[in-house]
Amino acid sequence: MMTGMTPRLTLIAAVSADGFISAGKGVPWDLPKDREHFRAYTSGKWLLLGHQTYEEMLGWFSNHHPLVLSRDAKFLPFNGERVATVQEALNLTQKANQKELVVCGGSGAFSAALPEADQLVITHVNHLLGGGVPFPSFSQKEWEPVERTAYDRDDTHAYSFAIVTYQRVAHYDRAA
Ligand SMILES: NC(=O)c1ccc[n+]([C@@H]2O[C@H](COP(=O)([O-])OP(=O)(O)OC[C@H]3O[C@@H](n4cnc5c(N)ncnc54)[C@H](OP(=O)(O)O)[C@@H]3O)[C@@H](O)[C@H]2O)c1
Repeated sequence: MMTGMTPRLTLIAAVSADGFISAGKGVPWDLPKDREHFRAYTSGKWLLLGHQTYEEMLGWFSNHHPLVLSRDAKFLPFNGERVATVQEALNLTQKANQKELVVCGGSGAFSAALPEADQLVITHVNHLLGGGVPFPSFSQKEWEPVERTAYDRDDTHAYSFAIVTYQRVAHYDRAA
């Protein structure tokens, strides 16, 4: 029997002005203040990551509990657990009485989780990548910006950016 409340599902991403999260492999910009924000937001939380992003972030996890999205039943993550679906990840998170599950990408994980998501925390980077790994499109009608913090370019940030929190205007009934 399931206990506890359904955890809030948050997607956290840094997205280029033309809608990409990567030019191919790795993060395509170096924005220390955004890294700081990512570290602070995810600290101590249960995370959901696609297999590739998990491999890229190995060594970064400290007080996190990573759930790794993979179709390969033989894949055993070094830390955390493998899950086959977003729903399985939500069920495990709920069983552990966690209030939130934070989806950290990549594109596959974001696309699978977006229909279930309650909140988006997006760093909009003022830079065009011209192609690469996309963030799934989301409708401004469905998502309301509730908080926005802008950062200018400076000696350590080649691009200006804004961190925007969006909340779903009306969440469809997951149980329906
Ligand atoms: N800018 C940002 O905010 C940000 C954040 C995260 C990542 N990234 C970048 O994004 C890129 C990686 O994105 P990606 O889309 O190529 O890879 P990904 O989503 O990290 O990983 C892809 C793998 O995850 C598993 N997977 C994905 N969707 C699944 C689903 N619906 N059900 C079951 N398993 C699923 C599959 O693993 P198996 O092959 O094991 O089945 C798939 O091969 C990297 O370049 C990374 O640096 C950017």
